[in-house]
Amino acid sequence: SILPIILSGGMGDRLWPLSRQSFPKQFLSLAGEKSLLQETVERLSCLGDILAPPVFVSNKEHRFLIAQQASECRIAPGPILLEPVARNTAPAVAAAALEATREDHDPLLLVLPADHIIRDTEAFATTIEQAVQGAAAGALMTFGVVPAYAETGYGYIAAGKPLERQCAGGELVISSLRQVEQFVEKPDQETAEYYLTAGNYLWNSGMFLFRASRYLDELDTYEPEMSELCREAHRNAERERDFIHLERNAFAQVHKESIDYAVMEHTRTAGVVALDAGWSDVGSWSILHDVVNSDCDNNQLEGDVLLDDVNGSYIRAENRMVAAVGLQDHIIVETRDAVLVATKDRAQDVKRIVSRLRDWQ
Ligand code: GDD
Ligand code: MG
Repeated sequence: SILPIILSGGMGDRLWPLSRQSFPKQFLSLAGEKSLLQETVERLSCLGDILAPPVFVSNKEHRFLIAQQASECRIAPGPILLEPVARNTAPAVAAAALEATREDHDPLLLVLPADHIIRDTEAFATTIEQAVQGAAAGALMTFGVVPAYAETGYGYIAAGKPLERQCAGGELVISSLRQVEQFVEKPDQETAEYYLTAGNYLWNSGMFLFRASRYLDELDTYEPEMSELCREAHRNAERERDFIHLERNAFAQVHKESIDYAVMEHTRTAGVVALDAGWSDVGSWSILHDVVNSDCDNNQLEGDVLLDDVNGSYIRAENRMVAAVGLQDHIIVETRDAVLVATKDRAQDVKRIVSRLRDWQ
């Protein structure tokens, strides 16, 4: 069986001021009726009964929010692993893998970020079924998306030769699965542009499928100290109903690192399968604008908005009326206590404002 792991500990800084530390974007309904987290869980129903109840990994601060939202889903939720402090995704996945391998189990983990939009659920399911073959053969499977532009906020995967595995009758080639020749997390602009023209690079979608023990092996190899501390934090975890509190002392000593930098850039046993399912990471206001439907002036308006001669803009009014004149390719997000105004091409830099706000606190 496959055990889904829902990563839900991000802060969604680039969607400030709507996304806040106390209520990050995965808990918001940005592109549908339900929150991004709930859409992620409900999407799993397309995979049928090969799935175990999903495990959540989240910051302790959000435990009631996540328990509440998980309980409203049509799929029965599994346990909620809680991090006392945020240490990024490599330790979060380690904790989930350790929990999954208790009592000598060793399931395939389907690691899913809680903040993506996937339009074509059927294609999503088919792709995962393909990847299962690679993961069962020991590969750390990634899901590659054909890049649309030189995004610097993503990982890039160079797809190589077909992934092979040894079988009793000889070598079996699974043609839709490829070896990962190179994995580069968040390249600079110039490199991203080169990857785009090179043609054989795919965006890393941020979802993974691998056997729990395989991830732990790779972590032991490339991040032995992180691995040791995660084991300690998990061994000494406190269990309270559905909540599993990782032990603070050990977990706080772990250094912050994402799974992409810690494992995926180094492992020699990664595989990739192409994902063509209307995938989108709701990483910034400009990406959100690109995935939601716009009107004839290419504006996306939410709430009480009044415009004259404005196009290509995303404008959201939560409390007050927002009026704009003569704007092009802008983002305006009004909330009760803060208003963001930015050009669309600088949407990534909203996180710089947020880090300054944090420094002032
Ligand atoms: N539990 C937990 N703890 N979850 C976390 C933490 C943490 O400390 N930090 C982030 N997450 C969650 C986020 O909520 C999100 O769902 C997911 O893990 C990925 O983290 P992001 O911070 O959004 O990563 P990213 O977007 O910069 O990069 C990743 O995703 C890209 C595609 O969206 C990488 O995998 C890239 O390679 C990839 O292209
Ligand atoms: Mg992201």
